[in-house]
Amino acid sequence: MKKLFIKTYGCQMNVYDSARMADLLAPLGYAPTNAPEDADMVILNTCHIREKAADKVYSELGRLKELKDKRAEAGSKMLIAVAGCVAQAEGAEIVRRQKAVDIVVGPQSYHRLPEMIARIARGTGHALETDFPVEEKFDSLPEEMTVSGPTAFLTVQEGCDKFCTFCVVPYTRGAEYSRPVAQIEREARKLAEKGVREITLLGQNVNAYSGAGLDGETWSLAQLIRRLAAIKGLDRIRYTTSHPRDMSDDLIAAHRDIEELMPYLHLPVQSGSDRILDAMNRQHTRDDYFRLVDRVRAARPDLALSSDFIVGFPGETDKDFADTLALVRQVGYASHFAFKYSPRPGTPAAGHKQIDEDVKSARLEELQTLLLAQQRDFNQSCIGKTMDVLFEKPGRKDGQAIGRSPFLQSVHAEGAAHLLGQIHKVRVDAVFPNSLKASLLTSPALASESAVAL
Ligand code: SAH
Ligand code: SF4
Ligand code: F3S
Repeated sequence: MKKLFIKTYGCQMNVYDSARMADLLAPLGYAPTNAPEDADMVILNTCHIREKAADKVYSELGRLKELKDKRAEAGSKMLIAVAGCVAQAEGAEIVRRQKAVDIVVGPQSYHRLPEMIARIARGTGHALETDFPVEEKFDSLPEEMTVSGPTAFLTVQEGCDKFCTFCVVPYTRGAEYSRPVAQIEREARKLAEKGVREITLLGQNVNAYSGAGLDGETWSLAQLIRRLAAIKGLDRIRYTTSHPRDMSDDLIAAHRDIEELMPYLHLPVQSGSDRILDAMNRQHTRDDYFRLVDRVRAARPDLALSSDFIVGFPGETDKDFADTLALVRQVGYASHFAFKYSPRPGTPAAGHKQIDEDVKSARLEELQTLLLAQQRDFNQSCIGKTMDVLFEKPGRKDGQAIGRSPFLQSVHAEGAAHLLGQIHKVRVDAVFPNSLKASLLTSPALASESAVAL
């Protein structure tokens, strides 16, 4: 057996892609390892979204070169591949900067890895694939897959046509593409057969999904979700990331009507200032966003909302930033991701006059303080409530298990270690900074019976 080490940076789609790369290489005799020094092949699955993310790749490659040299001294080989969005954005430049790299493969071309490895074995030098045959990729991924626990990601849509002026994704992931429903359903059934109870449907603009349906028509995300919700064993469905422009009426209604669709929505707003939203090319106003939030909350009153924010976008004044704080106060978020604007090569906003770094830092801190307080309030409002938890893994203490609430909170409960892969009722007892403590309401005896029944 050969050993494969994959390091994943960036978003959930990269996590999905890394798992699929491992599935692709398994038939070639590669088994996963957690130790890069033992690996016959190392893949860095990279992210280009902010400067820091992209820079990490080169320092990691420097460390890998040393490991590769040591292996060569000992008479063995290590293949190094760079995959993901940095591979797509920087291509051959990566091999120029770090000669130890054997393979550079973009996010739409990784199905060609086996062929590229064979080419290297024939001694034909480096291999580079950064074309955009996205359809071909999904058609050629293996049907077999390894699952790691009761939750899984499933890419249904890839790419972006929105061109926000700060963002590299349209350049690294290409144009919007939706996989056909039949192909997605096959993959979801397979996951359910392997014990997966919760899937998160992924797409850079997942709610722009419009794929070939089962009836010859084009299906929306809501139609897809309805179909997947009928699969036996799949009890929970989530989707991410959504663009406010693409929240259609049928998707909002799905939050009211489909029990399996979890009451959690990540709906990035980026800024609360109309001027900045316009400069970002987000194609909606703050009022549009407020109205949208009202509509989803009317459909699903207990819905937990989350968002991404960027502070310090070029031209952002104190007043613009105050508008963002005011929007956050008005909406109220259960969780969040906030970032300092990072100029990215080739994107329109990178050429504009930049905001001072210390202004960006101060704004980020102020925004995060507010968002963290909202997150704490949301978590505290759960104390004493009963909720379903899907237990995913053992906790640090004996007998403890950790899972997720419907609202994506991390929950730990004593005496639940034998319930992994199952959904059980708990009562929330206390709130910690990053998790909830809960007690199991199912009696342990009953629980083990239901485990047998499953
Ligand atoms: N498709 C999603 C976002 C994908 S990128 C959407 O439309 O919202 C994930 C997040 O990274 C973005 O929501 C944004 O908040 C952040 N981001 C993207 N480009 C960035 C940049 N240049 N600087 C800082 N943050 C950025
Ligand atoms: Fe990037 Fe905007 Fe597309 Fe999201 S919608 S991936 S932020 S360009
Ligand atoms: Fe990063 Fe590419 Fe995802 S840039 S956030 S890995 S789409």
